[in-house]
Amino acid sequence: MKPFSFSVKGEVNFGAGSLNELPAKISARNLKKVLLVSDPYLEKIGLVKKAGDLLAEKEIAYITFTEVEANPSAETVARGASIFVENNVDGIVCLGGGSPIDVAKAVAVVGTNGGKIEDYAGFNRVGKPVAPIIAVPTTAGTGSEVTSVAVIKNSDNFKMPIGSDKILPECVLLDPLLITTLPSSVAAATGMDALTHAVEAYLSLEATPFSDIIAEKAISLIGANIRLFVANRTNLEAASAMLLGSTFAGMAFALSRLGNVHALSHPLSGHFGVPHGVANALLFPVVLEFNALADSGKYEKIYRLITGEKACPGNFQPKMLVDEIRRLNAEIGLPQKLSALGITEGSLSLLVPDAMKSNLLLYNPRQTTQKDVEQLYLNAM
Ligand SMILES: [Fe+2]
Repeated sequence: MKPFSFSVKGEVNFGAGSLNELPAKISARNLKKVLLVSDPYLEKIGLVKKAGDLLAEKEIAYITFTEVEANPSAETVARGASIFVENNVDGIVCLGGGSPIDVAKAVAVVGTNGGKIEDYAGFNRVGKPVAPIIAVPTTAGTGSEVTSVAVIKNSDNFKMPIGSDKILPECVLLDPLLITTLPSSVAAATGMDALTHAVEAYLSLEATPFSDIIAEKAISLIGANIRLFVANRTNLEAASAMLLGSTFAGMAFALSRLGNVHALSHPLSGHFGVPHGVANALLFPVVLEFNALADSGKYEKIYRLITGEKACPGNFQPKMLVDEIRRLNAEIGLPQKLSALGITEGSLSLLVPDAMKSNLLLYNPRQTTQKDVEQLYLNAM
């Protein structure tokens, strides 16, 4: 067993209706004025107003920034940071999926440390502590609420990681009521993102007994509930399990990192705007097929955790897991091929160089060359 260390920071509160605790969480931190970061969809369905009204009731000053797009850009961060500075904000509340949470982290960095977000691309480059972040996820999900990484697109459409312990949200409110209004397509894509997080964390070369136990719980919660949740988002038990599962998955990959699925999916989102969860779901079985050669027994455990089967009949083959993921993607209505999204061989010259820049390849259980990356994309087409 390799040496490892383990620590959990931040406060996570789970419960139906826990959004109502937001004013108390802000007051407990003596914040004078907060920036409420969200997106146009959540504004349209009234969730931003609902959160704002909760703050107004307790006379907590706030200003909203709801311009966050899917696959958010450095320009969006710059606009958010200007609002942060001009309004003397001293804390951030983010309400949304991965994009608003990542933008909140990036705005906190630039708003507190100056410059532009590109200056902090990479790991451990944030100098001063940033404004406290309170995260309220509205998908299940990104896991970004419990990680120290934000992913922001630069002017070359490259999705830069910004990693620093300083951007970990210090308080998280997990309210399953907030995900009961998701469209089924978003529930499917974000649910597969969460499952990918758990499985990539579990298979990572950096996996430890701590990340494993958290990943196993995430895989079983998501495996048992993703179909039920996509079928009916108002199923509060399934919604609760998915939200908790996605947070566990986020904790697992915060500890042990991810792998080839995420390394290859970011360029698909950066260059072609493919939603993050859709890109991951599509690449997931292809990468599992490739990584099977490196399997030392975890594939069977994953298969049993997802399917709920107590034991396999002694003839488990990694292909059974690959087929199970393909079946799951099909049943919940996700695209099976990149070609269905108009992405074909001609796109390799854009995709491959960016995937090769990802440090996530280093944690993938099977060593991966540029030729392998090309072949994986081709296999997904
Ligand atoms: Fe992800």
